[in-house]
Amino acid sequence: MKIITVESLTKILDKHGFDQFLVDLMQALKRDYGRWQSFTKMPRPSMHVPGGVLELMPICDNAAYYTFKYVNCHPKNPLTGKQTVVATGQLSQIDTGYPLMFSEMTVLTALRTAANAALATNLMARKDSHILALIGTGAQSEFQVKGLKLVRDIKEVRYFDIDPKAMAKFEKNMRSIGIKLVRCHDTEAAVKGADIITTITACKANVDVIKNKWVKAGVHINALGGDTIGKTELELSILPRCRVMVEYFDQSFIEGEIQRLNLKEAKKLVYAELFELVNGSKKGRTNDQEITLFDSVGIALEDYSALRLTYELANKYNLGEERNFTPPVNNPKNLLSALL
Ligand SMILES: NC(=O)c1ccc[n+]([C@@H]2O[C@H](COP(=O)([O-])OP(=O)(O)OC[C@H]3O[C@@H](n4cnc5c(N)ncnc54)[C@H](O)[C@@H]3O)[C@@H](O)[C@H]2O)c1
Repeated sequence: MKIITVESLTKILDKHGFDQFLVDLMQALKRDYGRWQSFTKMPRPSMHVPGGVLELMPICDNAAYYTFKYVNCHPKNPLTGKQTVVATGQLSQIDTGYPLMFSEMTVLTALRTAANAALATNLMARKDSHILALIGTGAQSEFQVKGLKLVRDIKEVRYFDIDPKAMAKFEKNMRSIGIKLVRCHDTEAAVKGADIITTITACKANVDVIKNKWVKAGVHINALGGDTIGKTELELSILPRCRVMVEYFDQSFIEGEIQRLNLKEAKKLVYAELFELVNGSKKGRTNDQEITLFDSVGIALEDYSALRLTYELANKYNLGEERNFTPPVNNPKNLLSALL
């Protein structure tokens, strides 16, 4: 079984190129959303604990593989020097059930969330979108900018975080990206005049990070940080003004911005699931005045695409460590012999 540590993933990204990885991941996501019906899926089981949530994200591609990711979100972790979100994941073959790869997924989650938001933005944002408002400059933030830069000619990022140190870190990491960086003194200043608004904050509460009156015609919103029960980022009155797209209704209804609606209201409001835009059965934006919203919670299919791509590249570049996670036995019924 292949083990992909953070160090192995770093080597894969060095060999393959960071941007190329994101481009290939977007392609993989398109392929997999395009095969939506061939996956067995379920809303992720979540366990809420004091200060956070623990989630398991399984999915079965009935043609070849099964994957799962373990992920958390503990917004107060940075206060003790720990990351808010960490993750690990596994890829298994379905014909025998044998595991093929176990991987770090903290970085992979940031990469797949960026590629996924870029895919959605490409389908929904105005083509002439140049100004990005980024609210929350934590761990995910640079990945988001790098992803969006691949699908739109982003010339300026206006950003705000309640933590000035997070903004200073973002500036340092982004200084050579070739985009004008504008630090803002609050969220309202950041979203004013923006073409795309991305919210990627961490707070386990219903917070009106974005107020309705700040949202102008023609904007595209990626609401990424409201992704579990009791955790949202948009003032509720924004939602009826938008053409709303979610990844997977059954999960988004529990975890997304739409969790505050009843089932009838949510069904009426949600225009499409992402796979319907990918396969062309529904159109993205229809005019420049429309407000579009990608109400994202992150689904197992995205992790599936990321794990498969990582497995392919690890094999291509001969990276990752081979370790026994299944006992080597000559006689499969003689498990005890593995210990002798
Ligand atoms: N939708 C998805 O697929 C997906 C995937 C990964 C992470 N997430 C979510 O994204 C969020 C961010 O993750 P992260 O790893 O970057 O966390 P992080 O803790 O590193 O960064 C979050 C940042 O948000 C800031 N913040 C909190 N409240 C704010 C507010 N009201 N206004 C402005 N800034 C605020 C914090 O100061 C922090 O710097 C989390 O909520 C996580 O659950 C979603």
